[in-house]
Amino acid sequence: MNVKNICCLGAGYVGGPTMAVIAQQCPHINVTVVDVNATRIAAWNDADLDKLPVFEPGLDNVVGEARGRNLFFSTDVDQAIDEADMIFISVNTPTKTYGKGKGMAADLKYIELCARQIASVSKTNKIVVEKSTLPVRTASAIKNILDHTGNGVEFQILSNPEFLAEGTAVDDLLAPDRVLIGGDTSDKGQEAIQALVDVYAHWVPKERILTTNVWSSELSKLTANAFLAQRVSSINSMSALCEKTGADVNEVAKAIGLDSRIGSKFLKSSVGFGGSCFQKDILNLVYIAKTYGLNEVADYWEQVIIMNDYQKNRFSNNIVSTLYNTVSGKKITFLGWAFKKDTNDTRESAAIQVADNLLNEQAHIAVYDPKVTEERIYADLDYLNTRAEEENRSLLNVKNDPYEACKDSHAIAVLTEWDEFKTYDWQAIYDNMLKPAFVFDGRGILDIKSLENIGFVCYSIGKGFNK
Ligand code: UDX
Ligand code: ADP
Repeated sequence: MNVKNICCLGAGYVGGPTMAVIAQQCPHINVTVVDVNATRIAAWNDADLDKLPVFEPGLDNVVGEARGRNLFFSTDVDQAIDEADMIFISVNTPTKTYGKGKGMAADLKYIELCARQIASVSKTNKIVVEKSTLPVRTASAIKNILDHTGNGVEFQILSNPEFLAEGTAVDDLLAPDRVLIGGDTSDKGQEAIQALVDVYAHWVPKERILTTNVWSSELSKLTANAFLAQRVSSINSMSALCEKTGADVNEVAKAIGLDSRIGSKFLKSSVGFGGSCFQKDILNLVYIAKTYGLNEVADYWEQVIIMNDYQKNRFSNNIVSTLYNTVSGKKITFLGWAFKKDTNDTRESAAIQVADNLLNEQAHIAVYDPKVTEERIYADLDYLNTRAEEENRSLLNVKNDPYEACKDSHAIAVLTEWDEFKTYDWQAIYDNMLKPAFVFDGRGILDIKSLENIGFVCYSIGKGFNK
């Protein structure tokens, strides 16, 4: 089967870039990305490519090339479903904040709504592709809804998990390590798999396109993220030990990373991992394991999250104890709010927890992030519900200029590894700070020696203070 019309429900960090790349690589396929959020769609259609709702290096070029040719962004969900022969579901699946599985299970209400809408609108056979990260066996739930509420049309459900990392989404999509497609083992299931293989085969080498059954594909996504997050938590656990013993976490990471069985990636110690996937997917895994009575399996993976929370709290505790056990009324400047560099996404960013802890200690915080908006920062804090919204606005200020943000502060904390932080005029920053001027580098990116030469007192994650 030759796919001619693709639609994607959800124009977010995954759906937007993924569809843009498919459209760019397959000019003969019409790709329509729809979203219930009209503001988001308007931003995707903005003539000014700097205003796209998702910031990703290179995405403006891809969208600029394909948009209006065979890539469309729209709020007309029904029409897009009706016209498509393949429908991607890429809506959000946040962790449940209520009821059974609260704080752990994925909330599938948006997925279910999509399935019901697809069922009620479809007049022709469709291939439905789950792109959102979902707990194992969601495909069967989607199939159930489609088969029982549809108008007699046939649906094939595929699982095609997205492995792109934000900040490198375009490169990851153009040259993926692998594309995974899970489907039914029946003949029709295999035909559907082949249709999606053919789409990717336009730019991905065949040997990198893996096909499996649906459950393996769904579980592989959770497993990959759990393994990656575990590496970060493992090295972060060592960062605490390094600071106590005088070892340097970067040296340890380099030494173990050269072991080809271990490998060098995902060993960068940090103030804690964030992002939309790691925590959510591990919690999901923990919840699934518990559901099956596999308590030891659940505990094993939960420890990755516990270590991550510890790392964030350790960082803020260290700031408080270093500043003579009180930060009350002191100005602390955050460089970075995003969960990693080169993205404007802040979901689960370590900065949020660190800020919340310091605000509990009555610190005044100034934040500078090159891509995150003031609105987003306040929304992240308000979401925690720790204090009144007015209080968040009076205690935390967002600045558009890093030098302004650092002026008159007692300490600077680096929360995101943005490259530009390395190139600042640190002497000028030092001159305008209160003394002693502290820097807490939660990402290990700054040249500590030259900062110390200027006069800063520096802490770097996994190295501690230079004694
Ligand atoms: C992740 C997976 O990498 C991707 O395959 C999946 O599809 C979605 O989840 P993402 O969340 O975009 O992608 O970013 P990633 O680069 O994995 O980083 C996650 C977090 O871990 C970030 O906060 C990052 O700063 C942190 N991290 C990563 C470290 O602290 N140290 C490292 O060595 C690597
Ligand atoms: P991700 O990182 O997985 O892409 P996002 O939250 O960035 O997650 O994007 C998910 C998008 O899905 C949001 O823009 C949201 O408005 C959209 N969405 C949620 N429900 C629906 C729906 N029923 N139909 C279309 N879009 C939806």
